Amino acid sequence: MQDACLIYGLNAYNHLMPAKNYIHFLDLKAINRRFEPLLSQTIQEVVQSGRYLNGEQTDGFEKEFAAYIGTKYCIGLGNGTNALEVILQGYIEMGLLKNGDEVLVPANTFFATFLAVINRGLVPVPLEPCLSTFLPKTRTLAPAISPKTKAMIMVHLYGRNAYQEQIHNLLKANDILLIEDNAQAVGSRYLEKRSGSLGDAAAHSFYPSKNLGAMGGAGAITTDNEELASICRSLANYGSPTRYWYHHIGTNSKMDEIQAAVLRVKLPFLDEDNAKRNDMAMRYLSEIRHPEIRMPMPPEASQAFHHTWHLFTILSSKRQALIQYLDKFGIEAAIHYPVPPHQQPVYQKSFPKKSLPLSERIHHETLSLPLHPALKEEELSYIIEQLNRW
Ligand SMILES: Cc1ncc(COP(=O)(O)O)c(C=O)c1O
Repeated sequence: MQDACLIYGLNAYNHLMPAKNYIHFLDLKAINRRFEPLLSQTIQEVVQSGRYLNGEQTDGFEKEFAAYIGTKYCIGLGNGTNALEVILQGYIEMGLLKNGDEVLVPANTFFATFLAVINRGLVPVPLEPCLSTFLPKTRTLAPAISPKTKAMIMVHLYGRNAYQEQIHNLLKANDILLIEDNAQAVGSRYLEKRSGSLGDAAAHSFYPSKNLGAMGGAGAITTDNEELASICRSLANYGSPTRYWYHHIGTNSKMDEIQAAVLRVKLPFLDEDNAKRNDMAMRYLSEIRHPEIRMPMPPEASQAFHHTWHLFTILSSKRQALIQYLDKFGIEAAIHYPVPPHQQPVYQKSFPKKSLPLSERIHHETLSLPLHPALKEEELSYIIEQLNRW
């Protein structure tokens, strides 16, 4: 460890990290610098094209992304939240969902998953997670199904592929739609299929910090269902399938040409970047050893699942002390997320108070360590060493 200490100008425990060597949780500048000069060139081309919406970049991205995910259709949108909302609205238009229907959602997820359900007049039914995978426990599913349950949103949280045939079969047997929230797991696989092609429809987010990040807001829907795809395209375009004709109460949510062009530069490198994330996650998993740190579950030996490690999250009941300790040694950690959706003030106003102890424990104890494709090998070693010394 002496070497890494010297790299960072540290003398054992009692010198603070010089600001320029501070390891930030995420370094978007460094991540995107790797795509230069292509990124700047492609943005320049869009600027000079005079076409900023509904152009060849968006069209090209939709085709390339559908091919990558393995679905027949892809619709580019303004962000991932809209993608979830438009899918749900699409099913309402098709008569498969209606006001007051229940939608199964993980109790611990980013609030946007809940928001989309509530915004469409549907009722989120939270499922308690497992402390090692952070995904809903399979056994919570059957008791949560009621005659009003019409859909489930499966969130591949932190980049961990949440698909299970057992769950899908149970949903199919009860005529429940499976919608994937693939915001955090683009590129992950179950056997040969990618997340985003495992259920009936999927929402993707290209928020700048995601594994495939745009330079602003962007999202997409993927599906094999032709009717749903054409309704969603119309819904995202004010409800207008044909110019100036409005068939649905839609919204306006478009992927713009600059975002599509940026994503087209980055998509061919996504698998390589996810492989880097995977290597880093494997080092964390095998090298971090501390009695106060609970590690996430390693990938299954069968290799049926391929995760994308959007976030590497540990649990510690001494989280606050750990954050301060890491900060003192020049390492920034982050919390995803500090308050569970069911304890958000807005949620408590509309839904009965609920106790979800496992989700609450995760939100109290979870801590995300730096992990991104521009993180250097020696930085990773340094983080591991400091954690083990805590
Ligand atoms: C799990 C999850 N769902 C939905 C979203 C919403 O995506 P967006 O921010 O693009 O609206 C995000 C991320 O931001 C997310 O992490």
